[in-house]
Amino acid sequence: MAFEMLTTMRFWMSCTSCAMYALVTSSSQFGSSSRWFLKPSNHSHLWHSELKAMGAAMSDGCFAMFGPPDPRIRELQKCKEELKDFIQKRSCHPILLRLAWHDSGTYDQRLDNFPARGGATGSIRFDPEMNSAANAGMSKALDFLTKFAEKYPYVSWGDLIQLAAATAIECAGGPVIDMRYGRVAVGSEPEQEQCSAQSSFIFRAGADLPEAELEPAVGVEQQQQQQQQQQVGVEAAARQLRKIFSEKLGFTDQEIVALAGARTIGRAFKERGGSCSFGYGDQAASKYTKSSSKMWEDHSAGCGIAGGAAWTRNWLTFDNSYFTNHMDAMEDDDLLWFAMDAALQADAGFKPTFELYAKDQAVFFRDYANAHKKLSELGSKFEPAEGIKI
Ligand code: HEM
Repeated sequence: MAFEMLTTMRFWMSCTSCAMYALVTSSSQFGSSSRWFLKPSNHSHLWHSELKAMGAAMSDGCFAMFGPPDPRIRELQKCKEELKDFIQKRSCHPILLRLAWHDSGTYDQRLDNFPARGGATGSIRFDPEMNSAANAGMSKALDFLTKFAEKYPYVSWGDLIQLAAATAIECAGGPVIDMRYGRVAVGSEPEQEQCSAQSSFIFRAGADLPEAELEPAVGVEQQQQQQQQQQVGVEAAARQLRKIFSEKLGFTDQEIVALAGARTIGRAFKERGGSCSFGYGDQAASKYTKSSSKMWEDHSAGCGIAGGAAWTRNWLTFDNSYFTNHMDAMEDDDLLWFAMDAALQADAGFKPTFELYAKDQAVFFRDYANAHKKLSELGSKFEPAEGIKI
């Protein structure tokens, strides 16, 4: 009888001589028991035999022991608070968001195995992936997070990257995302390299990441000819978007539009992606990205480094201006509007959602939060399987 009631028991055990924890789970009267071990990332033990043996005994006997709470919860909470301060001081919201998207964006739903299928695994921190063309300039974001990784060793790199992005969105005035943590991170460069052999792990020179500008219509004299070329550019961009976001990542048209709205914050730089002519520093900046520009909605100062060009004027404020201001962006040479952006606004499958988000910021925030949560979990393996909340 007692056993029938005992469906799942889970308890933590910690070692008194080192910082290792064990989570032991027992399920049903004769059912499975499992154990896994959590060690801080800077911990040298691979297995702690005593703890392992104790975990086995406790679990097989279906005993419960209430140990300390999951150490990751407290670390994630503290880390989030510190990240808030850091992000506001450095105005680095956009690059942290982009880092998380590029970590997740390696996912390929056509592959089964973790971590070969790619996704939010923290693999972007290793050179082969970080050095790919699509990640140009992103090592700076990784440098920002390294001191947090050192201070909070129980927070995996997979979690840290996603935590920073969700926090950045909140700090920029965007939605609070119902995030799940407990990601297992790819642990080493060789492991990461094995993955890249199987999946389209790295964004190879734009092969896996949608290109910003596809065949722009240039040097055409006749208006009709120009329109035709633009139409081709828009159709190609829409095809490319679906190839990546639907076939590879598993998103719907509506989710694609919501996610693209993330570029309500952030900029492009000549020196990074090379997709625009504006570069680092005041001299190469657009009129909205100089150190004297007001890029917060409340006109407060502070933009991190000056330079580059943005999709919106208030490019450190997360709102729906990517959708409302697209006419400005199309006409103003100091704002970005690529063929891909035009496709979202013109393609029959994307257009209704684009227009809805322009009318209703609350709907955009709701849909963005859902799509972002999905993006942040692509390919992730959680321990425990249901993940942890903070
Ligand atoms: C839809 C396909 C996408 C394309 C073609 C695209 C393309 C680009 C390009 C060309 C840049 C500028 C890179 C540079 O020069 O530094 C950029 C920046 C950015 N992207 Fe995307 N992106 C896409 C999707 C996304 C998604 C899904 C997100 C997030 C959910 C995102 C977030 C950002 C952010 C925040 C920046 C600014 C980074 C910064 O200011 O440092 N993008 N994107």
